[in-house]
Amino acid sequence: MQIIRDLATLRAASAEARRDGRRLALVPTMGALHQGHLALVTAGRQVAQTVAVSIFVNPLQFAPTEDLSRYPRDEAGDLAKLREVGCDIVWMPDVPTMYPPGSATRIEVTGPAEGYEGAARPDHFRGVATVCTKLFSQTQADVAVFGEKDWQQVQVVSRVVADLDLPIRILPHPTVREADGLACSSRNIRLTPEQRALAPLLPRLMVTALDTIRAGAAPGPVLERATRQLQEAGFVPDYLALVQPETLQPWQGGPGRLLAAARLGEVRLLDNMAL
Ligand code: PAF
Repeated sequence: MQIIRDLATLRAASAEARRDGRRLALVPTMGALHQGHLALVTAGRQVAQTVAVSIFVNPLQFAPTEDLSRYPRDEAGDLAKLREVGCDIVWMPDVPTMYPPGSATRIEVTGPAEGYEGAARPDHFRGVATVCTKLFSQTQADVAVFGEKDWQQVQVVSRVVADLDLPIRILPHPTVREADGLACSSRNIRLTPEQRALAPLLPRLMVTALDTIRAGAAPGPVLERATRQLQEAGFVPDYLALVQPETLQPWQGGPGRLLAAARLGEVRLLDNMAL
């Protein structure tokens, strides 16, 4: 496994990986890797001969009020996991490599970036879109694998790729869940044991709500009831919304996606499920 921290070496490794029509898959991450990330590496391996994982905690996608320094970091643990899963290249730029002094270009996305996480975290998707565009350009990857756990992020990045005609395919991968149904997330380790025990109530209520809607109930009252149940259990729900899967506009019938965000203590839990 090649660990790369400078652009010149990355470019050479990418050119080598893509020689003679071979494909390179990229899994963009911010580290603190868990089963969900490792599943993305395995998915990348199925569509490309070489898999690169980027580890970069992107300051641009954190608001000044969000504590960037408290984002979990575990470089040694991450590298051990990546070796085990069979990753070929780890791209680990530092902040000045990613954003050299004078860096002034940002990718601004409207449409699917508006509302939900975009409303709760202003500028978040500008940071995500900017760093992903840079990662795609730096690695020249043929395909990038993203977890569906961050459904809105997948739609935003797909929009950027389509709008900027970027020569890369976005491959979404289903959310990986713990045995009790909680979506795997780097933030889960910040839950206290009591909060961790309570957290799977979120996906359980989502399953129940979707079943009720499928059985013909109107989404509004069903989602209001689920929101109340979350509040009563000690969550601080932000949204529980049924939307059109790609545009994230309110659901009009047909395929839908239930998006959820709720805070438990200091941890913001995100989840989503197909109708
Ligand atoms: O999902 C994440 O971990 C990040 O938003 C990403 C895609 C790596 C961009 O920094």
